[in-house]
Amino acid sequence: MAQYPQRVFSGVQPTGNLHLGNYLGAITRFVSLQETHECIYCVVDLHAITVPQNPADLARNIREVTAAFIACGVDPERHIVFNQSQVAEHAELAWVFNCVARMGWLNRMTQFKEKAGRDRENASVGLYAYPTLMAADILVYRATHVPVGDDQKQHLELARDIAQKFNNDFSASIAERGHGDEFFPLPEPLIQGPATRVMSLRDGSKKMSKSDPSDYSRINLMDSAETIAQKVRKAKTDPDALPSEVDGLSGRSEADNLVGIYAALSGGGKPDVLREYGGRNFSEFKNALVELAVQKLGPIGAEMRRLNSDPSYIDQVLRNGSSRARVIAAENMTAVRDILGFVR
Ligand code: TRP
Repeated sequence: MAQYPQRVFSGVQPTGNLHLGNYLGAITRFVSLQETHECIYCVVDLHAITVPQNPADLARNIREVTAAFIACGVDPERHIVFNQSQVAEHAELAWVFNCVARMGWLNRMTQFKEKAGRDRENASVGLYAYPTLMAADILVYRATHVPVGDDQKQHLELARDIAQKFNNDFSASIAERGHGDEFFPLPEPLIQGPATRVMSLRDGSKKMSKSDPSDYSRINLMDSAETIAQKVRKAKTDPDALPSEVDGLSGRSEADNLVGIYAALSGGGKPDVLREYGGRNFSEFKNALVELAVQKLGPIGAEMRRLNSDPSYIDQVLRNGSSRARVIAAENMTAVRDILGFVR
């Protein structure tokens, strides 16, 4: 097995309305990985256009995700933050991967089935090919580690299958060109644990989502302190007091969710939270949760608003990140073209 330098890559769609689920489920992990790895974080605008987008909204959402990264503590100078469309090698390698991946592999993708729904004939070809672009995002940097939510696990397995098939199909050419046994690493998912899965405040069985019609189902990163307080106070609970042990949360999905949010925001575990709040009623616990949420999210929201008022700074961050990403992508893509036998 070839050795690859450890490199983290992940992507976030510019879909607007970033919420607590995105923060606890993904962005905090992005921030902590910066201490141990070289990281590349990408706003995946090419993925966004697999469904219709309004150009003005898309531009705003690209800047907003970038602002969220920075406000949450991603450092765009030590690491790379950029938007996908500005590095053409993503789309180029995706084409190569469209020719490596098999129809049968893509036909198994559950996210396509969900997103295309009943009207599959009318889904874009891009939505179908989405996973090959995602594989290209990762592998154009030969990234080794990919922090994602568990809904992306299947796509990551596909990326590994594509990397492996490419390495096999072209093994002779790869070796001939001095790359050893294989050109692409098999990227490893860093799956967020269930502890960081944030559920809707209105229904503890559904994930917190930006597409939920009720804004009370989620806490947005740019919500004001008053809005956060209102949403937490209105969050669905049950009539019982909090249990003292984690076992006592089973079958109480709303209670479990609020305790999980408190634990994640405070950096502790659910047992720590229950040690402190076991036996107390929800109104008391919710007051504590409001205080903690406002303390943690208030500064992030304020920083996002500040950054959003200065788009030229954000644009400069993205341009700088893109040009650094392009250097790595271009080198790998040149090697891929050579491996494939394209004459230059
Ligand atoms: N598909 C991912 C999502 O919807 C976003 C994404 C695109 C991504 N490219 C990626 C994630 C590469 C990790 C690595 O959440």
